[in-house]
Amino acid sequence: MSTLILGIESSCDDTSAAVIRDGLLLSNVIASQKVHEEYGGVVPELASRAHQQNIVPVVDTALRRAGVDVSDLSAIAFTRGPGLLGSLLVGTSFAKGLSLGTGVPLVDVNHLHGHILSHFIRQEPGDEVPEFPYLCLLVSGGNSQIVLVESPEKMQLLGQTIDDAAGEAFDKCAKVMGLPYPGGPHIDRLAAEGDAQRFKFSKPHIPGLDYSFSGLKTSFLYTLRDNLRADADFVEKNKAHLAASLQRTIIEILLDKLDKAARQTGVRTIAIGGGVSANSGVRQAVAEYCQARGIKAFIPQRAFTTDNAAMVAIAGMFRFQAGHTCPVDAAPFARVTI
Ligand code: KG4
Repeated sequence: MSTLILGIESSCDDTSAAVIRDGLLLSNVIASQKVHEEYGGVVPELASRAHQQNIVPVVDTALRRAGVDVSDLSAIAFTRGPGLLGSLLVGTSFAKGLSLGTGVPLVDVNHLHGHILSHFIRQEPGDEVPEFPYLCLLVSGGNSQIVLVESPEKMQLLGQTIDDAAGEAFDKCAKVMGLPYPGGPHIDRLAAEGDAQRFKFSKPHIPGLDYSFSGLKTSFLYTLRDNLRADADFVEKNKAHLAASLQRTIIEILLDKLDKAARQTGVRTIAIGGGVSANSGVRQAVAEYCQARGIKAFIPQRAFTTDNAAMVAIAGMFRFQAGHTCPVDAAPFARVTI
């Protein structure tokens, strides 16, 4: 019997619903919220309100595009956390209501597991998926982690950021350059035209597999401050070089610990996920690193790097197949680790 899963994602500022059958993607609908742009960051209250408006049409469209009826579903998977509580409540409450109304079981999903398992979403039946175990570099606005994925149910956190996430480093440095939020994609675009060796920023020296990006952020800020004293147009004149140098430094920091993790574990498959894995430089550096060492690389399509419900559906499918369901009184949680 096939497993047909509806996934619902509402952890931050994207309302999304997707349908998968046995890992094959039938639909994936995302309503992104533009309302936050003018505030330079996600405003939780506005995010919750936008989810309220979007959730019904998004789920309805996902089901229609997939050509399935709610009663055909094996389970309804929803993001239970981590994320903004008000945002999570919208998706969680909607999933519960749908489950109560239809009798379709509920499955709760850890958003981070969604990112990590997104490589199992197949768009064509023959698409290649990772073999266990693999290492996942999970890099987003809120996380920078290296995870050893032994199975969909068994994951080990090998290292994580002790302060800022890689996405925050992109966004905050972009902000001091006067770029719009989120700054990561702007840095990516500018970096393509700049000299990545023009500026040197400090890199962390911390033991083990943990990351740190706050020192880099400060070093970037001081470079701007010191040079602006001599030349008020410094940022404008050096935008591309600053972006390229920043991106290079972030990539070097990410790859340094990823390399350590690969050597320590001897694992021969590496996957990346999360918003920062959309970065052209990160994608290229990981692909080249793996190719040079005969390591299998899984670089997600850009559509699956940022928040989406297809990854919630695939993680929900694994959980449902392993026998997990979730009671209707399950509360969402803002904070949770893998
Ligand atoms: O995973 P995500 O959509 O949201 C969470 O943080 O949960 O990640 C968003 C982060 C932001 O920091 C954004 O600037 C970054 O991903 N990002 C990028 C790129 N696209 C998104 N950073 C660098 N280059 C990009 N192309």
